[in-house]
Amino acid sequence: MNIYNALLEGNKKWVAEKTKADPEFFERLSKGQSPQVLWIGCSDSRVPANEITGTNPGEVFVHRNIANMVVHSDMNMLSVLDYAVNILKVRHVIVCGHYGCGGVKAAMENAQNGLVDNWLRHIKDVYRIYSDELNAIEDPTDRVDRFTELNVIEQVFDLSKTSIIQNAWKDRNSPVIHGWVYSLKTGLIKDLGVSFDSQDSLPPIYRFDSLMPKVTTV
Ligand code: CO
Repeated sequence: MNIYNALLEGNKKWVAEKTKADPEFFERLSKGQSPQVLWIGCSDSRVPANEITGTNPGEVFVHRNIANMVVHSDMNMLSVLDYAVNILKVRHVIVCGHYGCGGVKAAMENAQNGLVDNWLRHIKDVYRIYSDELNAIEDPTDRVDRFTELNVIEQVFDLSKTSIIQNAWKDRNSPVIHGWVYSLKTGLIKDLGVSFDSQDSLPPIYRFDSLMPKVTTV
């Protein structure tokens, strides 16, 4: 069977299995979603958010792009973030990178790859910030692995810099933002231990004041 037909057959099989285990599954999900987690991950086909976390449809709101980036002029990411935080009111936002990420590796090199180089530029900026630490790592695999971790941490900072996240923190002390890295070799996730839930984690220049109500004087 070719891959195209296999997708449709796979879907039928999946529906049959889900319905057998839980006859109300699709009926229930069709009524709405209330995921508690926003996942920002890499587009890599080997890192599917639900499968690697053992979660079902309805549990994780997902945004994926090359190298799990939080680019603050990206309308797609901002729209997903605003909807997840302000409408769905998720309790956790997770940036999940992965070792062996082609985007991160390409950003460390100098070859041209076409349009994507403009996207990877944001990752090169991360290298520049941490170049002393990274250049001191001799083993090339260790260096790209550490760069992958630092890139995730930097995206956690970039999320924290948005007014969307800062206003939510002030309004309801939520969501908590986390940085994870997934291993393609073991299937295991490493929690990088960066969990932010307030402006205290940000350098002062990035901290927004609360929006003040406008006062009209006559
Ligand atoms: Co990747």
